[in-house]
Amino acid sequence: MTTLTLPPGLGGERVTALGDRARLCGLYDTLGAPVYDDLAAADGFEIGDIVSAVRTGAEGPVLDLAAGAGRFTLPLLATGREVTALDLSADMLDLLRARLAKAPRPMRERCTVVQGDMAAFDLRRAFGHIVLGTTSLSLLDEAGRAGLYRSVAAHLAPGGRFLVSVMERADDDAPTEVHSRVRGASGTAYDLYEYWPAGAAVRHVTIAPVETGSEATGAPGKAADGPVTVCVDEVGTMSIAAIEAELAEAGLTIAGRRPLTGMGDRHRVTLLKAVSAR
Ligand SMILES: C[S@@+](CC[C@H](N)C(=O)[O-])C[C@H]1O[C@@H](n2cnc3c(N)ncnc32)[C@H](O)[C@@H]1O
Repeated sequence: MTTLTLPPGLGGERVTALGDRARLCGLYDTLGAPVYDDLAAADGFEIGDIVSAVRTGAEGPVLDLAAGAGRFTLPLLATGREVTALDLSADMLDLLRARLAKAPRPMRERCTVVQGDMAAFDLRRAFGHIVLGTTSLSLLDEAGRAGLYRSVAAHLAPGGRFLVSVMERADDDAPTEVHSRVRGASGTAYDLYEYWPAGAAVRHVTIAPVETGSEATGAPGKAADGPVTVCVDEVGTMSIAAIEAELAEAGLTIAGRRPLTGMGDRHRVTLLKAVSAR
């Protein structure tokens, strides 16, 4: 869940330096959704892994949980499957609908868009695959994850698979904080601050556009002014082993694990494939 409070570390310093120019927002709300989408549209991470797992797995419709603006939904539709895209945020789903409106009609007609909570859903149909990518599992607390697993188990067709990506800190010696520069699909450059002390229960992500001008760069030139959208997100941390244990407890047996990151990466992301033990 997003908390709109001053983040710790460099992200917080950036907000403080902006003073009343800062427009603090969540990553998936009206102000934040276009920023998230700009970055997501430039990020192909995980898409190929999920699409190929679906292509080579059980037949039948696909449920894309926490679908957002459709980073996986559109490529999944392109495989010829029927896809139900579920997300809590009306703002993210508006972006998905706009994208679908530009897609070829046969593709668009195979997509059902649902605003709902992945921690408790009842779609009254079964799916060959249920996908929860982008490590969005970390957006739920323990009770939310228990509800998710119950809902997933109730919606898997016989032989169906749950594909869920999970992230953990790769190395306890890694720095507490990392600042990187990333570019969105629009060409806009953003400062991304991640604050994640070893062993912490949550990590903080802060995203603000890179500003040009003397105020931001120290270089001669006109100082930046006007409002600046700063997205703040606070997400739970987890261990892959703990999630596997939770899945087993919920009757979802691990049928495969695929590492999605490499040696030396700050995050270890694994795509888990689970089947119903029923
Ligand atoms: C990291 S984004 C991933 C979006 C998309 N899958 C992608 O890869 O770009 C997480 C998404 O989860 C959604 N979300 C957050 N909590 C949710 C919940 N309880 N149920 C459904 N969606 C949720 C947010 O609105 C957001 O679109």
